[in-house]
Amino acid sequence: MERIPVPSVVVLIGASGSGKSTWASATFDGRSVVSSDALRALVGEDERDQRASTVAFELLDRAIDERLRRTLTTVIDTVGHDLDRRRGWIDAARAAGLPVYAVVFEVPAAVCKARNRTRDRRVPDTVIDGQHRAIREQRELIDGEGFDAVLVVDDSTRPTATVAARVAATAAHVERQAADPVGLRFGLQLSSFDLRGGPGELGERLASVAKAAEQVGFTSIRVMDHPIQIPQAGRAWDDILEPFTTLTHLAAHTESVTIGPLVAGITYRNVAHLGKTVASLDVLSGGRVECGLGAAWYERDHTAYGYTFPSLDDRYRLLEDALEFLPVLWGAGTKSYSGRVLRIPESICYPRPLRGSVPILVGGQGERRTLRLVARHAAACNLQGEPDLVARKVAVLAEHCRTEGREPSDVRVTHLSSALVGADDEEVASLVDALAPARGRDHWVAAQHAGTVDDQIGRFRALADVGVDEAIVALTGLVDEVAVERFAPVISAFG
Ligand code: CTP
Ligand code: MG
Repeated sequence: MERIPVPSVVVLIGASGSGKSTWASATFDGRSVVSSDALRALVGEDERDQRASTVAFELLDRAIDERLRRTLTTVIDTVGHDLDRRRGWIDAARAAGLPVYAVVFEVPAAVCKARNRTRDRRVPDTVIDGQHRAIREQRELIDGEGFDAVLVVDDSTRPTATVAARVAATAAHVERQAADPVGLRFGLQLSSFDLRGGPGELGERLASVAKAAEQVGFTSIRVMDHPIQIPQAGRAWDDILEPFTTLTHLAAHTESVTIGPLVAGITYRNVAHLGKTVASLDVLSGGRVECGLGAAWYERDHTAYGYTFPSLDDRYRLLEDALEFLPVLWGAGTKSYSGRVLRIPESICYPRPLRGSVPILVGGQGERRTLRLVARHAAACNLQGEPDLVARKVAVLAEHCRTEGREPSDVRVTHLSSALVGADDEEVASLVDALAPARGRDHWVAAQHAGTVDDQIGRFRALADVGVDEAIVALTGLVDEVAVERFAPVISAFG
């Protein structure tokens, strides 16, 4: 099966009736397709109105420009036999930093003509012959034109898979990981609770997922802290469980994985209550908690549940107070704490966490404030994004560590991303078909890092190379333990 990374620019090349539009709408979100025929119909009488051609191509160029400026996948559906136009599109794609692919439709002229005869308004056979001749003559030229790849579609072609471009570009990393393996820990982020069987079976199903995660080598399981589902992960009425209740359940059904919120918003609870909860969870889990903390960001769930949502400055003051105060709370004896905005007269908490304290992870990657707080107070940070960005954040964090008189290697770097993984392109394609929303599909594929096991190994190797110690993944399509098992070979490659 062929594969096309997204986002990218895809130039269709084929005579009328060769099946370009049919293939494009089967492979991509229809809204990624910019078609000269559709534009002719928009400003002229219909798809074949040649009087509207000039304007249609002006609009086509404008639409392509605008889409590339936003780095959106753009499938250019014209006959594609105009050399100068093709070169212009290749240059425009390069300028936008997008890969660019040609898809050549090698369908016999007789077939195109036969298909054409069934249409309302036919393209004359002589026109089809001309298109065919032009494309045949240009065939070698197209190969050398500068496309990242030239795909050939004929009537025997199986469907084409779209995979996340950021994932597909990592073949060299896969080889490096095979030849010279490095270790990397993996965490499982549970951000969606729409598991098979619904709420009635959720307790049992979550336990199975957690056990499977531990079995295949995940070393941590994390949950978000939001009373209502966030837009990045679903709809407001989708199921989402309260984090500490869930973590207690997960603790009871696992043996060794680290558990914790990723991350607990500092605004949702009295901070001493949060510390008490975390200490209890730590004791009941046998000392397995890592406490993720963050400044909170989602105003809606504050408003919805009647929490106050302080200004960003005040949330940071509270976060810094919590970072100072929680170790005090978890320490021996009774002390009083008075910080910037937090006052706790009696910080008494027994039983104390089993290790004397609980490691704290701070979520977020703001370079000025958040990473400074990490360097000053935390055991771990949590970054997001592609390797280039992560490398930069790690460097900023190291700088803060030096300022704070701390060894950069003392701070564990965790990374959070979504992953849709299949054994091979066929499985990725069928998972995408089953799970992707009808609208915004290409964008979704890229955001989920859809790719094969090998693609994922390359992606995580690249992250390990820039300093990530633990890759925490939210598995797309996690409805039962099968999704966890599909990820197992990725973990093994770093074992
Ligand atoms: N078709 C088909 N089998 C295919 C592909 C297409 O029977 N494997 C049919 C389509 O259903 C359509 C006709 O062939 O009726 C032309 O396909 P289309 O995708 O519209 O071809 P295009 O290359 O887009 O043609 P045009 O340049 O005229 O838009
Ligand atoms: Mg068409």
